[in-house]
Amino acid sequence: MENLEERIEQANTLEALEKVRIELFGKKGALAAEFAKLKDVPGPEKKAFAEGLNKNKAKLQAVYDERYELLKKEEIERLLKAEAIDVSLYNNLNEKGALHPVMATMDKIIDYFVALNFSIEDGPKVEDDFHNFEALNLPKNHPARDMQDTFFFKDGAVLRTHTSPVQIRTMLAQKPPIRMIAPGAVFRKDYDITHTPMFHQIEGLVVGEVGEVSFANLKSVMSDFLHYMFGDVEIRFRPSFFPFTEPSAEVDISCIFCEGEGCRVCSHTGWLEVLGCGIVDENVFKAVNYKNVSGYAFGLGIERFAMLLHKIPDLRMLFEGDTRLLEQFR
Ligand code: PHE
Repeated sequence: MENLEERIEQANTLEALEKVRIELFGKKGALAAEFAKLKDVPGPEKKAFAEGLNKNKAKLQAVYDERYELLKKEEIERLLKAEAIDVSLYNNLNEKGALHPVMATMDKIIDYFVALNFSIEDGPKVEDDFHNFEALNLPKNHPARDMQDTFFFKDGAVLRTHTSPVQIRTMLAQKPPIRMIAPGAVFRKDYDITHTPMFHQIEGLVVGEVGEVSFANLKSVMSDFLHYMFGDVEIRFRPSFFPFTEPSAEVDISCIFCEGEGCRVCSHTGWLEVLGCGIVDENVFKAVNYKNVSGYAFGLGIERFAMLLHKIPDLRMLFEGDTRLLEQFR
């Protein structure tokens, strides 16, 4: 019996133990063989012999049960280890993306003008000379063409240098009154901390009957819009020049970095230039055959707004796709 116990103890896996179990407890097993001897035991000794066998059987059973529990426990532990899922493992499959700050800024601007009933218009990025320059009162050889460093194609087409050609396309396609914005990419040969060869603008154009649209309207809409974008800032209209507007203004807000004290970002002026605007020049209406109307127009760079809103120091960062920047906009 000692020997049988040892065989149980030496089984190191559940499989080995099962084999031992059959060898010991099975129909043709060691115990069955012992019990078979009972019939040859003389009558008076039968009882004691049987009791002895049963005791041994019970003891072996107990040893077996204990061994079984132990091996089973080891097996479960092995499985738990092997099949474990490390729930602390970083899982980026569930991470959500987000709008690029330039697109988010564009959407915020669009929301403002859509609420004022402006339509959203679109135009081609490869433009012709007429829409990008000529119709905007920028005749050939006019020095003001140099204000915008243009990418030219061999056939004379250009990458649009501003969204203003969409004004022309919209006026040629629709009758007044007009209340439109045109968001989109524009292109200029420029590259430094505040310029990239591709950037985005939003153009605005409002055309109504003479006397209906005034500089006062333009001023109030621009002021309200800039307060919507930048909160409680000072706003200043500075006389300026654009070929397609007369009079023209550039609009500044008090520097949101130094609150007008003067800092590096505002070149110590306390002011940040944020958009151009003006009353639509008569020559523009002539080019699209509009009569007895007046209007105002404005244009702004979306990247510049995004930079100011999020205090991004270098415009080029917006185009590098660096996730350390982009992750902050989730
Ligand atoms: N098109 C001008 C630019 O790109 C901006 C502008 C638009 C100015 C409309 C006045 C009116 O700089």
